[in-house]
Amino acid sequence: MTSRYHEVYEAWKSDPEAFWAKAAEEIDWIETPAKVFEAEEGIYGRWFAGGKTNTCANCVDRHVERGRPGQPAIIYDSPITGSKRKITYAELLAEVEALAAVLKKKGVGKGDRVILYMPMVPEAVFSMLACARLGAIHSVVFGGFAANELATRVNDCTPKAIISASCGIEPGRVVAYKPLLDSALKQAQHQPEFCLVLQREQGPCDLIEGRDFDYAALVGEEKSLGTKVAPEPLDATDPLYILYTSGTTGRPKGVVRDNGGHMVALKWSMKAIYDMDPGEVFWAASDVGWVVGHSYIVYAPLLHGCTTILFEGKPVGTPDAGVFWRVIEEHKVSALFTAPTAFRAIKKEDPDGKLVGDYDLSQFRMLFLAGERADPDTIQWAEDKLGVPVIDHWWQTETAWAIAANPAGLGLLPVKYGSPTVAMPGYDVQILDDAGHEVPASTLGNIVVKLPLPPACLPTLWHADERFKESYLLEFPGYYKTADAGMIDEEGYIYVMARTDDIINVAGHRLSTGAMEEVLSGHPDVAECAVIGAHDDLKGQMPMGFVVLKAGKDREPADIQAECIRKVREEIGPVAAFKTVHVVNRLPKTRSGKILRATMRQIVDHEEFKMPATIDDPAILDEIQEVVDHVDQMRAAQAR
Ligand code: COA
Ligand code: AMP
Repeated sequence: MTSRYHEVYEAWKSDPEAFWAKAAEEIDWIETPAKVFEAEEGIYGRWFAGGKTNTCANCVDRHVERGRPGQPAIIYDSPITGSKRKITYAELLAEVEALAAVLKKKGVGKGDRVILYMPMVPEAVFSMLACARLGAIHSVVFGGFAANELATRVNDCTPKAIISASCGIEPGRVVAYKPLLDSALKQAQHQPEFCLVLQREQGPCDLIEGRDFDYAALVGEEKSLGTKVAPEPLDATDPLYILYTSGTTGRPKGVVRDNGGHMVALKWSMKAIYDMDPGEVFWAASDVGWVVGHSYIVYAPLLHGCTTILFEGKPVGTPDAGVFWRVIEEHKVSALFTAPTAFRAIKKEDPDGKLVGDYDLSQFRMLFLAGERADPDTIQWAEDKLGVPVIDHWWQTETAWAIAANPAGLGLLPVKYGSPTVAMPGYDVQILDDAGHEVPASTLGNIVVKLPLPPACLPTLWHADERFKESYLLEFPGYYKTADAGMIDEEGYIYVMARTDDIINVAGHRLSTGAMEEVLSGHPDVAECAVIGAHDDLKGQMPMGFVVLKAGKDREPADIQAECIRKVREEIGPVAAFKTVHVVNRLPKTRSGKILRATMRQIVDHEEFKMPATIDDPAILDEIQEVVDHVDQMRAAQAR
């Protein structure tokens, strides 16, 4: 089929409001929006102002009322605990209503914040939807973050309640969540009024009298009472959720998502980008703690009337590198969405893809990759082994859906390896030089999006309008700065090459090197430090620290290294994957004192580099090179 992409993109460009008005017809509105786009509201305008709607009603009630009550809404498949559960749309409504009743009775209502600190269990999805039903604003915190990160989020969004679980499960270990929650609340200035805790049999926990309540007991009571909770009519522009993401410092950014625009864009994306029809099975193998989980485990598939897979496991080791193919076969998955890292992990374990042959994947149509740069080797391996189109697409926590993709539902465009293809309708993507001028085709520069951003993109940061402007809008007036560098070729294909800030991407997880540096600087023996993202064959990047010790410290560097590693794990979390730190005598700097992190990364990655003209003392680069060479030699010797 020839692609309708160019026609659709042009239709959007010539009349954006008509385009989104048509897309909005797919949503149930309590009151139709007076205006599609209100330029005078918000920081750069607001979508669907004046409209009233409810996201939970659109995700759940409408499918129960209109033909899908018995269709599985969620298939929970947890190889790590050996359990599976199918939840129909009707059952989902019952679960969500009961939980909404619990929250409501405890005083949670419209505009209140609720933090969810949960593993990949159905109750995490019920909790998101119950909040959405009440108009409470959820903020999911990924389970791999440490107590300190949780405390920061508690202080920032001041939740009325926290919903958590007794534990999460990682290969070979039970991660007790409750001590992390308790420790976070000890550190936080703000205290929630109550916590609901889901007890898991793999690691139950004690509850604090008066503060903690048993999730199952309270929900069970409401179920037996049959309490009904009607969806709260919300303004389209009311916040649905806050999702914290790494900024360049230790203070994460609270990305705000609204109700109306979010639904319109996500619903549109399910057919146009993912070519999914209602009733089909969609699987985003991510975590509800990330934006991919919010958008494509929970909201978009449910809005579209699909069945979504909630997978609690890993691509390898639970139990083997064939688990993805087992899930696809068993649950008749039409499309899978994951990060390239997951495929690199599978490819490492099963290079010839032998396990693929053990399963019937005849109904599987497409693989979507995002979250980090998809290397051509991985794409080609997946294409070869699976025999389906492999679609790289590019987006960010801030946008909630793809900025660039190859839109399967509009007809695929030819693939160019290394490019997530073209800008989606809604996004006028341009490349600017540092002075803000447009650059010729195929020239590297800053990737920006002309304002206004399309529906679903962040209207602001939680209680931080100025930070929103400073972070995204000030540098290139009239544009949103993606903080990615890249280029656009003559045919409009976008290439995303690197971040322009201190963000690194580790196994598809977005992390801030600045935040890690803040932790290292807090070590009493560290005088100064730098953290860079070094290339890693499996995870794409891995953080690597360099520390200069305070003078006169008579301690074994190995002890300090171990303490630094432990400190990052304890303060940011295991997800930081911080495992390497080098003790050096000095850090290379410019004459004005700026640490030359980019050059350090080039040395570590064995890339050619130009001596920075402003370097203070070039000899320091040789010292860094020596340390790196020494470590490489040791690793090579260990491997032998
Ligand atoms: N709760 C607690 N700890 C967690 C966690 C969670 N929800 N998720 C990860 N961790 C821990 C891991 O156990 C690991 O701990 P360790 O250092 O003790 O081994 C650490 O955080 C790093 O995790 P990760 O980087 O994910 O590495 P891994 O070795 O556990 O798994 C992959 C590697 C490739 C299998 C895994 O990263 C993966 O499946 N990636 C898919 C990508 C993805 O989901 N991206 C999200 C955005 S699309
Ligand atoms: P996150 O907010 O965690 O989704 O991370 C967003 C960042 O991940 C982007 O700004 C990019 O740097 C990177 N990223 C996501 N998808 C891609 C992709 N398909 N290609 C290249 N980089 C990507």
